[in-house]
Amino acid sequence: MPFLPGDSATLSTGIQIPVIANGAYAGSTTQQKAEAKDWTLTAIKAGYRHIDTASWYETEKSVGLAVKESGLKREEVFITTKLRPTDHSRVQEAFNESLTNLGLDYVDLYLIHWPQCLDQDADGKFKPVSSPTFVEVWAEIEKIFEQKKARAIGVSNFSIKTLEILLKTAKVVPAVNQVELHPYLVQNELREYCKSKGIVIEAYTPSGYDKVRSDPVIVEIAQKHNATPNQVILAWHLAREIVIVPKSASEERQKENLNLPVLSHDEVKQIDTLDHGERISAKPNPDGIILGWTVEELGW
Ligand SMILES: NC(=O)c1ccc[n+]([C@@H]2O[C@H](COP(=O)([O-])OP(=O)(O)OC[C@H]3O[C@@H](n4cnc5c(N)ncnc54)[C@H](OP(=O)(O)O)[C@@H]3O)[C@@H](O)[C@H]2O)c1
Repeated sequence: MPFLPGDSATLSTGIQIPVIANGAYAGSTTQQKAEAKDWTLTAIKAGYRHIDTASWYETEKSVGLAVKESGLKREEVFITTKLRPTDHSRVQEAFNESLTNLGLDYVDLYLIHWPQCLDQDADGKFKPVSSPTFVEVWAEIEKIFEQKKARAIGVSNFSIKTLEILLKTAKVVPAVNQVELHPYLVQNELREYCKSKGIVIEAYTPSGYDKVRSDPVIVEIAQKHNATPNQVILAWHLAREIVIVPKSASEERQKENLNLPVLSHDEVKQIDTLDHGERISAKPNPDGIILGWTVEELGW
């Protein structure tokens, strides 16, 4: 059954996850990170009940303040945060710092942000390190789940290759894999694989930015529905039963992203044909390297 904007999906742990989040990546400046408080609050007021942040975004404090100011009960908002790649050797400390930043005593979902473990040198450059492995990191994440400090645990930017390695020793199957997914990067193979393991796929960069928003097929379908291209793309995800993490800092566009048209079967199929495996957000450099790992290591 296609998702509708107000729906929740069920994760393998039995908990409900609202199918549309507002993302909380805000940009790199201190001011942008602080401003995320106000626009996360407008998102909650607009009806979002799922906020996606990360230690790396440095917006956990803003998200926590927005949830507090919203006056909603803690259990009414689903909060995701993520372990940053430079914290792989200190999972418990990093998780507790996230809780402190959020001002919460549990999160709904805790993700390994990237499989690779990184060191950052004095110039800010990232260097991959071989230890701990993501398998070892997952065992630490499982402890957080066992202690009930996260209602579900999962991964992000994992492929079939890295999931296969993880699942060999995992006691808890990741509830979620959050990956880049949009009409130019449909990820059908990964989607089928995750479905077969009970792992829910979440789409980040679900719009594919202006590149996909300006695609003539999207623009034409949007005109037919008297909708915007962004609405059509998000509606396409829901028709394919994908949990989505769009981000808007604008109250108007936040509302727009919750008010989606229902596409016909033919329109969904037409958008499916736009896939050509193009990464738009997390792009490897010309040497095929992203955050210190080759695309082969990532299994992309
Ligand atoms: N796990 C990962 O590695 C990873 C990586 C990237 C992102 N993410 C998560 O995914 C979230 C979203 O990712 P994203 O920002 O790359 O993708 P996105 O939501 O597809 O794109 C956001 C961009 O689209 C604009 N926008 C939003 N709604 C719009 C609308 N209705 N019409 C026109 N433009 C619209 C936003 O501008 P305005 O804000 O001005 O509206 C912003 O520039 C992040 O915040 C983060 O939580 C996770």
